[in-house]
Amino acid sequence: MPATSVIGLQWGDEAKGKIVDLLTESHQIVVRYQGGNNAGHTVKFDGRTYKLSLLPTGILQSHVTSVIAPGVVVNPLALLKELDGLAAGGHECAHRLMVSDRAHVICPWHMLEEAALEKARGAAAIGTTMRGIGTCYRDKVGRSHAIRIGDLVNTDAFVAKVREIVPFKQRILNALDPDVAQMNPDQIIAEYAAAADRIRPMAADTTSYLLDALEQQKWILFEGAQGSLLDVDHGTFPYVTSSNSSGCGIHSGSGVPEREIVRMIGVAKAYTTRVGGGPFPSELDNEIGQRIRIAGNEFGTVTGRPRRCGWFDAVATRYSARISGVDSVTIALLDVLSGFDELFICEAYNINGKITQSLPSRCEDLAAAKPVLRKVQGWKEDITGITEFSLLPENAQQYCRIIEALIGKPVEFVSVGPDRSQTIRMTL
Ligand code: GDP
Ligand code: IMO
Ligand code: MG
Repeated sequence: MPATSVIGLQWGDEAKGKIVDLLTESHQIVVRYQGGNNAGHTVKFDGRTYKLSLLPTGILQSHVTSVIAPGVVVNPLALLKELDGLAAGGHECAHRLMVSDRAHVICPWHMLEEAALEKARGAAAIGTTMRGIGTCYRDKVGRSHAIRIGDLVNTDAFVAKVREIVPFKQRILNALDPDVAQMNPDQIIAEYAAAADRIRPMAADTTSYLLDALEQQKWILFEGAQGSLLDVDHGTFPYVTSSNSSGCGIHSGSGVPEREIVRMIGVAKAYTTRVGGGPFPSELDNEIGQRIRIAGNEFGTVTGRPRRCGWFDAVATRYSARISGVDSVTIALLDVLSGFDELFICEAYNINGKITQSLPSRCEDLAAAKPVLRKVQGWKEDITGITEFSLLPENAQQYCRIIEALIGKPVEFVSVGPDRSQTIRMTL
């Protein structure tokens, strides 16, 4: 079974990093194929915590080659900063990283344009991470004023593109926001050319590399970023990210055909969180939500923003599990729910008097959805040291079984703490 994938089933931050880290042990290649440094994946082992953003989580393990595939948008300065941060902590890993020469490059104008657009959206702001993700993807799809890693590492091509693009972008920026900063092309060229010198040895045709690796029966792990509900085509548009963050992005983003992925694992929290704007039917904008936020340390890995918290939404998660085609699910952060007398699971929506178990396509309808909640008995015990499902309190087992039945996929892992060791593995 060479190719496995890990996909978020909610609005991101489901603990994908932890599950990818667990599975990395038995894989030789770990691939990021969409998103960019908007992601924040946390891994904890041997008493240390690591936060990966643009780099694949597999980078921490020396037996692994890490790949940034064509579908990722790469900020070269952020990439090097992250590598340098790891090197400073004793993890020298640039030599085991490959970056696709097809991947698109995030440039300073992308961040400036995003800031101006978010400001112009006012109350309807998406609440993006301000990393220039959406504006870079837009230029890629628009096919003008786009720069790829292959251009970045070719000095002449890069300089010519920056000289052409900067005046064009500055005119747009000035029109969007009269107070916008004035870009200096010489400074951009100098900064990015220095980064390019370091990235050149990592730039490669990762598509051929991955296809060859599959022929050689190498074990490949695909690491999803964001979550299925943030998918630009299938998520809660327009409050989404700009890539295919559900399972369907693996093939377009990596160049590896769908039929090669033989094992897909969906990851969901035992409750729901969301960062930024957009509808969230089971949100708890009250002291219960605050209790979950504190217990789960629900503050953004990338931006530090408090995450919005709510009950587990089985309607949205079932939808994600189906569109992403997962074989099994992980229920993460179950320990955070210890201590509640009773818990609730959203099992349907009431939209203007109509009960449905489908996720509406219009975000106005999702915003009108009232959660239909099932009450479930809670448990009091600390479960953070439990490594066998049968040793969990009866009510915690029941909670997982209800989620399993509502989603329609078997539970493969239950995570009861951030550390690698705090994981229950089920036999499927
Ligand atoms: P990702 O973006 O999906 O990789 O998730 P994040 O790393 O952004 O957020 C998940 C957070 O939960 C991180 O701080 C993890 O260390 C932490 N975490 C992961 N699994 C568990 C768990 O089972 N219990 C608790 N309490 N924390 C967990
Ligand atoms: P990981 O991989 C949670 C959210 C932002 C915003 C929307 C669009 O750690 O799960 P963007 O900057 O991508 O244009 O922002 O998507 N978002 C995430 N939320 N986890 C993430 O990544 C996210 N990446 C983007 O908060 O609402
Ligand atoms: Mg995260």
